[in-house]
Order: sequence, then structure tokens, then C-alpha cells
Amino acid sequence: MNEDLSALQRLLDQRYSCRGFLEKPVPQATIEEIVKTSQKVPSWCNSQPWQLAICSPEKTKVLADALTEAAMGGMQSPHVSFPKRYQGVYKERRSICGWQLYDAVGVTKGDREASHKQMIQNFRFFGAPQVAVVTTPKELGAYGAVDCGAFVTAFTLTAQGLGVATIAQAAVAGIAPVVREKLGLSFDRDILCAISFGYEDKDHPANQFRTHRAECADVIDWH
Ligand SMILES: Cc1cc2nc3c(=O)[nH]c(=O)nc-3n(C[C@H](O)[C@H](O)[C@H](O)COP(=O)(O)O)c2cc1C
Repeated sequence: MNEDLSALQRLLDQRYSCRGFLEKPVPQATIEEIVKTSQKVPSWCNSQPWQLAICSPEKTKVLADALTEAAMGGMQSPHVSFPKRYQGVYKERRSICGWQLYDAVGVTKGDREASHKQMIQNFRFFGAPQVAVVTTPKELGAYGAVDCGAFVTAFTLTAQGLGVATIAQAAVAGIAPVVREKLGLSFDRDILCAISFGYEDKDHPANQFRTHRAECADVIDWH
């Protein structure tokens, strides 16, 4: 098989959303390599609209404390509207991956306290030593977000190639006012998501499952 394709498939197969990290920080040169490589993704008019606020381990802790406090108080104020609802197959897929996580960490059906505790881990970045917050210019609308999504995917795959584990997190964008204030982000940009990153804790219960994908036939309508 073509070597380039095999390498890409290996990265796609190996990458997963990591929810348990070691404390060890990622060197700045490695972070720069991830970003430099991810910059190669296409964007409309080559606008490259993504901007990253990358936090040091110290700043990551400050942000985690502020976000956890806001989340415990029930804050939910994203710049970009969260999905209104998941229905049909989307609801089913969401439920399956949610239960994979709950089963892995031992949250049982109806245990609201345990599921809330697990949800709150989002705001501690699942123990990642560092986090990148991804923003897009408001005026570029949905297509700016599309371009940023491509960048996020490239970031996760390049990181994987460098042995760095990642998880994209929209949950963090749900507490946008706090993220904006703590990082001094400008008002002409929308916070889209965070990417928590670091070295995986291979033994962490939350890292013991892998999600499934639909078949080609489920996602292609031939015309
Ligand atoms: C844009 C985006 C936002 C996400 N937000 C969250 C999140 O807030 N919390 C979380 O635990 N996982 C989040 N995820 C991870 C997804 O749940 C995960 O990608 C999906 O279940 C597929 O699993 P995999 O990444 O392990 O292959 C997000 C992923 C993406 C791409």
C-alpha cells in the first residue's frame, strides 16, 4: 500500500479523545511543530482564521479553577450556539459514546452525582497540563468555523504523530465569558472550542474505550 496513505491511516486509527493525562508538560518546540504542520490545512481564501490562546501549565490551572467554579454555578453562555437537540441516529451515536465513557469510569445509570462529577472534568481539562483555546473572527461566520474545524482535526492528528494526546472540547466554549476574561480575548472573535493536550495516562479508566464509526453507506447518498 502507498506509504503516505498508510501513515495517515495509522494516525487516524491511533488518535482518540484522551481524558486522562500525565502531568508532564509538552515542550514549546513540539507545540510549535504541531501548529506549523496543522497550518497546512485548506481554508476559504486561505484566510487561516484560527487563532490559538495556548496556556502554560500555570495558566491552565488558573483557567481550570475559574471554569470549574463557573460550571458548578451552572453557567452556560457559548458565543456560538450549541446544537438545539440530537435526534434519530445522532441521538443514538451520542448516547453510545456517552455510555462508553460512563461504563469506562464506572458511572451507573441514574447516578446524577457521578455523571456531574465526570462532566466537571471537562473544566479541569481532564488533567491535561496545557490547553489551546481556538477562536474565529465573528464576521467570518460559519465558514470561519469550518476552517477552524479543519485546523482542530489537523492539530489532533499532528499531535498524535508526535506522541501528544489531545481532546477537542466544546464544553469549554460554553463558559465563553470566563475564558475571554481570563485570557483577555478580543470581542470581535468567537471562542469555538478548546484542545486540551499532553501525554496520555495509558492506565486511566477514561482512556480504555474507543468509539465506533458509521459505514460509508450510512453517510453517502450517491446521485
Ligand atoms: C468540536 C468537538 C468538540 C468536542 N467537545 C467535547 C467536550 O466538550 N467534551 C468531551 O468529553 N469530548 C468532546 N469532544 C470529543 C468527542 O466526544 C469525540 O471526538 C467523539 O466522541 C469521537 O471519539 P474519539 O475522538 O475518541 O474518536 C469533542 C470533539 C469535537 C470534534
